[in-house]
Amino acid sequence: MNVFYITTPIYYVNAHPHLGHAYTTILADCVHRFHRLLQEKTYFLTGTDEHGDKIVQAAEKNKQDPQGYVDAISARFQTLWPELGIENSDFIRTTYPEHKACVQRILQKVFDKGDIYFGEYGGYYCYGCECFYTEKELKEGLCPDHLEKPHYIQEKNYFFRMSKYQDRLRGHIQDNPAFIRPQQYRNEVLAMLREPLDDLCISRPKSRLTWGIELPFDQDFVTYVWFDALINYVSALGWPEGELFRTYWPDAHHLVAKDILKPHAVFWPTMLLSAGIDLYQGLRVHGYWKVDETKMSKSLGNVVEPLEMRKKYGLDGFRYFLMRDMQFGHDGSFSEQGLVNRFNADLANDLGNLFNRTLAMTHKYFQGKVPPSAGWTSEDRDMADLGLSAMSGYIEHLEAFQLALGLETFWEFIRGLNRYIDAQAPWRLFKAGETERLGTVMTLVLSGLRRIALAVWPVMPETSETLCAQLGVRFAPEDVDLRRESRSWQELQPGIEVAKKSNCFPRQEFQLEAPEHKAADSDSKEPEVPEIQFDDFQKLDLRSALITNAERVKGADKLLKLEVDLGVSRKRTIVSGLAEHYAPETLQGKQAVVVTNLKPRKLRGILSQGMVLTVETPAGLKILQGDEATPPGSKVS
Ligand code: MSP
Repeated sequence: MNVFYITTPIYYVNAHPHLGHAYTTILADCVHRFHRLLQEKTYFLTGTDEHGDKIVQAAEKNKQDPQGYVDAISARFQTLWPELGIENSDFIRTTYPEHKACVQRILQKVFDKGDIYFGEYGGYYCYGCECFYTEKELKEGLCPDHLEKPHYIQEKNYFFRMSKYQDRLRGHIQDNPAFIRPQQYRNEVLAMLREPLDDLCISRPKSRLTWGIELPFDQDFVTYVWFDALINYVSALGWPEGELFRTYWPDAHHLVAKDILKPHAVFWPTMLLSAGIDLYQGLRVHGYWKVDETKMSKSLGNVVEPLEMRKKYGLDGFRYFLMRDMQFGHDGSFSEQGLVNRFNADLANDLGNLFNRTLAMTHKYFQGKVPPSAGWTSEDRDMADLGLSAMSGYIEHLEAFQLALGLETFWEFIRGLNRYIDAQAPWRLFKAGETERLGTVMTLVLSGLRRIALAVWPVMPETSETLCAQLGVRFAPEDVDLRRESRSWQELQPGIEVAKKSNCFPRQEFQLEAPEHKAADSDSKEPEVPEIQFDDFQKLDLRSALITNAERVKGADKLLKLEVDLGVSRKRTIVSGLAEHYAPETLQGKQAVVVTNLKPRKLRGILSQGMVLTVETPAGLKILQGDEATPPGSKVS
């Protein structure tokens, strides 16, 4: 039996869980569920990373002692996951005594081997990253990730001879193309390994930091947080003698985002080589979610709360959107409008309609029971073949963590079934009294619904279970074998009774507020706005525009100076109050709607020749956008 062990990063407890953490963990959950449907022996680990400077600083800021603080935040992660449909097998915390003991045991082993030495080091330390940078690695003197000035620290510390394992690691990556995927990250790591590797500083003196795991060979030092954290992947399995370790290691796949590529692709495998533990099987690296094309950050106030999305759009719609709209390995842009569009197109239209119409027809033509089926035509065979090939494609893509491609492929089958119904027109067969043919067509479609209901379980578990119940199909993951489903078409047995209605995915509207706010406000009257005549409205010249440049206006916190293109040689300068809502560099290339015939006005000495239309949202001002790019200068009415 195949064995599959999947992990997420263990998250720092200095921040509350947000969209980014939810994405990785939901993706891991989907992949884990998928492997369960391949009938493999599986294990799924997530957890929290609780030591280090960052955590101490966050606890101090919250006026709490570190232990009380980490207990509270870790609990937030632990209670969030079930709310997002995540079924992890275990949850590890680096403050657990078993984990600490395991870290000390590995440190001692590496020390005894002669791979740890004491030395002096000076370097640029970024507290955000919890690591040292060389001058070369800094970006104009700043930390390349946080863009903050690092602290120069010179101190005596213990070092791990990482450089000793550089060649073995490079050889392993070259010989095993699937070790790091997608390809661009493998290339990035190979490029890193072309330069000589520095040894890794793995301790912090207690005079500076006490919140960590004490080194077993020097009680004046604690362990560097990354050396401690990475070991979670084996400590949770009870390395070295634990039953779980013997079952699941080294069949491990570590899922991470690109921000922590180096610790996973370089620190961790060299640590394993030194400790004499087999290398993990694969590192899978995904990109970053941005929000409306901007980095998600607390200071910009655009952090997406997973539970709020669940409340607004339902859990499965949210999970589906995350999996469908992020191409694995690339960055994705999160927007609620995007979520609604995707929901309506794929779930309400394609999937929802297919179930609604099929169940309704089964009731209308066969009293709600799966009818008997007669011989197939070539169209029936083609339809079933599409079902098999869509399932094979789905499996292949999900094995590579490419959920967006997998779902896209599988939806070909869902759309195919809708087209098949249109072409076979059961309503005409019914009218013509062709009951036998009608039975064959309806059984084929109903059997197609069964395979859809099973296949969507990894991504939309609640929906899958509801759809199975509607089809009278008993669902248990241990009874489903997706590979078998990709090889042979299984027909539903005649006589099974199906539900009258499905209604899993009613169309969604873009909701600006959480539903309860809406309800609370629904009694209050619309604000009174004086009516205008249509002629008044027509006086406005509204045009579609392209923002070609944006910069801050000196001395004005709220203003941005925009250059906009209004089509054939019409360029304008507009001063707009957007500085608190958009970083200027994110506006270049963005479409907007502009009032062009507003009387020009000087603002801070700059002549503003128009106005950009914006929408007030709880998350701040948003530039009004059409749903498609339009040529600059097009009239808006
Ligand atoms: N504690 C370390 C990991 C140690 S693993 C042995 C850490 N923690 S973290 O809380 O900063 O989590 C980083 C991870 O969170 C990313 O690798 C990714 O999985 C997830 N994400 C956080 N923000 C994200 C986005 N905006 N987009 C996608 N995923 C992101 O690093």
